[in-house]
Amino acid sequence: MKTILVTGGAGYIGSHCVLALLEQNYNVVILDNLSTGHIETVETLKKYGNVKFYNTDLLEPANVDVIFKENNIDAVVHFAAFSQVGESVINPQKYYINNVCGTLNLLQAMLTNNVKKIVFSSTAATYGEPKYIPIDEKHTQEPINPYGQTKLFIEKIMDDYDKAYGLKSVRLRYFNVAGADSKTRVGEWHEPETHLIPNILKSTFNGGQTFKMFGTDYDTKDGTCVRDYIDVEDLVNAHVLALQYLNNGGETNYFNLGTNNGNSVKEVFSACEKVTNKTIAVDVMERRAGDPASLVADNKKAKEILKWQPKKTLEESIKNAYEWEKVNGN
Ligand code: UFG
Repeated sequence: MKTILVTGGAGYIGSHCVLALLEQNYNVVILDNLSTGHIETVETLKKYGNVKFYNTDLLEPANVDVIFKENNIDAVVHFAAFSQVGESVINPQKYYINNVCGTLNLLQAMLTNNVKKIVFSSTAATYGEPKYIPIDEKHTQEPINPYGQTKLFIEKIMDDYDKAYGLKSVRLRYFNVAGADSKTRVGEWHEPETHLIPNILKSTFNGGQTFKMFGTDYDTKDGTCVRDYIDVEDLVNAHVLALQYLNNGGETNYFNLGTNNGNSVKEVFSACEKVTNKTIAVDVMERRAGDPASLVADNKKAKEILKWQPKKTLEESIKNAYEWEKVNGN
């Protein structure tokens, strides 16, 4: 069976992708420096299939090369990156060095070892402030923060590497990823947690901080920001399909991963109250810097070309996230 290198496989989305790949009988090699991923997650993943783990950093090119020499890697799924928008504004150097230089080292090792297929974790943040909604892949890419810039630079590098070296990439531009494994094996585990759904859910536990709602005066249906919440299990299935697409000789391409539906912060909050069957306390705060009012994906292209179909409702994602929080985050 084919072996896939998953960088960032100990992290939130990466770990769910590893499970999806194991379910398709791939062998998985994980590269992770555990800076935001967790060794406990790797131990869990090892129970479900053929998983080899390298605790190393993409900024160590010799170590990355060894992984390709020691394993018969067929393709790469590349998640490893820093991903906090706010932090990237305060410390852009951390983002440019880690995300861009790390990826350059990865691509170099791929080319040295003649591996020419990569699925890359890109982001809706490459589009910047939306000019129209829903956002399709033809929307201009003008990121408004260093995090989005790093992902856009990498997309452009991948285009040049295809022209020059025949490296085929599929770039998946995520909207707001939500939920957890439906068997509660892995889930969202960030320290500190900045994302909406886990923060609402954590506030329901004893000792949890009161949920802070950032901004209720946006020009949206109820004044709170609208986002397109895509379930993490649906999202990782698109990565499996993208690998199949590349294996079938597919050309370099890029796709939005979202649901075509926007939900406001207040709607998500109400859905969390319904799923948890609790009345949740809330502190209404000022706007959080850098939040656009609305981000919603047009996902037609991924449906047509990858034959991808997101299935889970927002409530199902919240339910899985809640089950995970009860076991692991409480
Ligand atoms: N929010 C709150 N309270 C919280 C956390 C979030 O009110 O405790 C609000 C935010 O202000 C925002 C919405 O909930 O309006 C969603 O915020 P998230 O932090 O969950 O997600 P973002 O939309 O900011 O960011 C996500 C990813 C980024 C990615 C971006 C792309 O986390 O990595 O989408 O648009 F860059």
